[in-house]
Amino acid sequence: AAPEGAIYYLFGATGDLARRKLFPALFSLYKEGKLSENFAVVGLARRPRTNEQFRSDLYDSINEFCRYKVEDLTMWNAFAEHFVYMSLDINDVEGFKQLNKLSDELDEQFNIPGNRLFYLALAPSLFGPVSFNMRDGGMLESKGWHRLVIEKPFGYDLESAQQLNEQLCQVFKEEEIFRIDHYLGKEMVQNIQVLRFSNSFFEPLWNNKHIANVQITLSETVGVEERGGYYDKSGALRDMGQNHMLQMLAMIAMEPPSRLIGEDIRDEKVKVMRSLRSYSSSDDVRANVIRGQYSAGKFGDKALPGYREEESVDAESTTETYFAAKVFVDNFRWAGVPFYIRTGKRLPVKTTEVVIEFKSVADNILFGSRHDLAPNLLVIRVNPMEGIYIKLNAKKPGSDTDIQTVNMEFCQSCQVGINTPEAYERLIHDAARGDSTYFTRWDEVAHAWSFVDRIAQAWRESTSDLQFYPAGTWGPKSAEELLAADGFHWWPVN
Ligand code: BG6
Repeated sequence: AAPEGAIYYLFGATGDLARRKLFPALFSLYKEGKLSENFAVVGLARRPRTNEQFRSDLYDSINEFCRYKVEDLTMWNAFAEHFVYMSLDINDVEGFKQLNKLSDELDEQFNIPGNRLFYLALAPSLFGPVSFNMRDGGMLESKGWHRLVIEKPFGYDLESAQQLNEQLCQVFKEEEIFRIDHYLGKEMVQNIQVLRFSNSFFEPLWNNKHIANVQITLSETVGVEERGGYYDKSGALRDMGQNHMLQMLAMIAMEPPSRLIGEDIRDEKVKVMRSLRSYSSSDDVRANVIRGQYSAGKFGDKALPGYREEESVDAESTTETYFAAKVFVDNFRWAGVPFYIRTGKRLPVKTTEVVIEFKSVADNILFGSRHDLAPNLLVIRVNPMEGIYIKLNAKKPGSDTDIQTVNMEFCQSCQVGINTPEAYERLIHDAARGDSTYFTRWDEVAHAWSFVDRIAQAWRESTSDLQFYPAGTWGPKSAEELLAADGFHWWPVN
């Protein structure tokens, strides 16, 4: 269903996120009738641009990045006329007053009931100042709802996140703040709870009696690209760990919510975050968390530079581009079950996968003294392939009772193919409908930071544990040992 009419303000409208994700998402929503006709989009950035230029950028972005192409010019014109551009100095409240006037005109023109959705595709240091100016420029006085959508990173550590949150809370209520973690917008991440709670195959087994370990891999082939300036200060732990990885872990580990909706799900996720076992000392961190940085390597025949040679990266940088950690969720359900999580840049494959490894059945008389039965696996493939598969043991055809491992697979991306909605479509649509289920609540963010801060603290104290791995390989060897010590290994990803 289409949400109520609203004005969407895109701060950072000339940036990469708008071009690659936000414009295409708006177009797909429009195509599918998920935006009512009563909407306007105001592109905001400092540089001057006419509406025509802005619409032509919009057109290019959609043709390049959207899963729908522009086929019909009449429809295109009808869509594009909802888009206007205004150059804005975000430090100057006068500009916001003008923007407010423009908003009244747009309300009138498109019959919009005063609803406002502010999307800040900006550096987080600007979230506070922009919010204050929105308020002081009168933009929150319209009669409809007001919502703030912000991108990560939400702070650099718990303390800075708290400061940021305090600023935002001076202007917006918690339920008006939509913190994006785009992994929560991914189809298969949302599917985790459906798989878990609607299948009697899984639900009774989802605990430490039956699960041996959980592995979450988020591997990328890309290096740091042109984001060295940001990434060198952030590193893999903050860029991926604090948010996407812990969010996926929470979806796997949470208790069944009383209803599969907003606050109930977020309440359960926050309990998981609270149950994460904090490392007791810096030595404990070093024993359980491996960090690496890519050095020069190659992919096929292509030579790849080391991280320290990348643009805008310090030539002696000790920033991690990889980490793997053994994490425990200290509650009744998960006592004793290790969660191994790993992420890195310049690894051999781009994939996000969750592997649930079940405990092996006890050897019994049927199999005599066999000890090589493979454990059952449930693999949830999040990205770029979407689907699930289960590994089972079955008899190898023939006169002996040889056992082989077989796969039962559901490949979602093979079926739905190109038309799976992008994470950003879903998230913009949810924000416009006021559904914050798949956005992160402040208490989740805060707990995730506390967990990550303990690791970062140990890493600050000494860099001696940083290991280098050649670009195009699976990261430091010690990440293998982390599991081997427990009698496990990383399951190969596909
Ligand atoms: C972003 C990180 O949040 O997620 C990037 O900042 C990373 O460093 C990206 O590349 C990965 O997202 P996806 O959807 O391509 O897996």
